[in-house]
Amino acid sequence: MDREKLIVTPLMLGFQELKTEDDLIEMRSAVKRHAADMGFSALNQTKIMTAASELGRNVIEHGHGGSVQIEHIRELDRDGIRLTFTDDGPGIADARLALSDGYTSKKGMGLGLSGSKRLMDEFELISPPGTTVMVTKWM
Ligand SMILES: Nc1ncnc2c1ncn2[C@@H]1O[C@H](COP(=O)(O)OP(=O)(O)OP(=O)(O)O)[C@@H](O)[C@H]1O
Ligand SMILES: [Mg+2]
Repeated sequence: MDREKLIVTPLMLGFQELKTEDDLIEMRSAVKRHAADMGFSALNQTKIMTAASELGRNVIEHGHGGSVQIEHIRELDRDGIRLTFTDDGPGIADARLALSDGYTSKKGMGLGLSGSKRLMDEFELISPPGTTVMVTKWM
């Protein structure tokens, strides 16, 4: 049988608007601090922060601004950090294309979404309307 998916009381660690470069900087350090407080290894703190940075930048660059919610989630036998990025921008019409390595609609490297997916354990994209990307790293 699959592991039980019972999630016990998500704990809200932080919420941050994402509009400016300063918001992004603040969000990166908040995410790193929360991951460190939870006991993630230095390597995993860096992975989580890198994913957060890419997804936060997408919110600003492609989604015209939005927000991120940082949560500590618990299942019966494991803890994780979950980051939920949301914006009311144009959305992503073709998720498969957007997630492929090297695809960019602007002049990026096209590695933000695919890279974040690899750095985290779970990745969920809900769009359109707007864009919500939810990523989780388990301890
Ligand atoms: N929040 C969003 N709203 C609308 N479109 C998005 C959003 N995030 C990503 N996309 C679309 O998905 C594409 C791929 O995103 P990805 O982050 O992988 O690459 P990029 O942002 O173009 O370049 P890079 O992140 O490497 O600088 C983007 O070019 C954009 O078209
Ligand atoms: Mg990007």
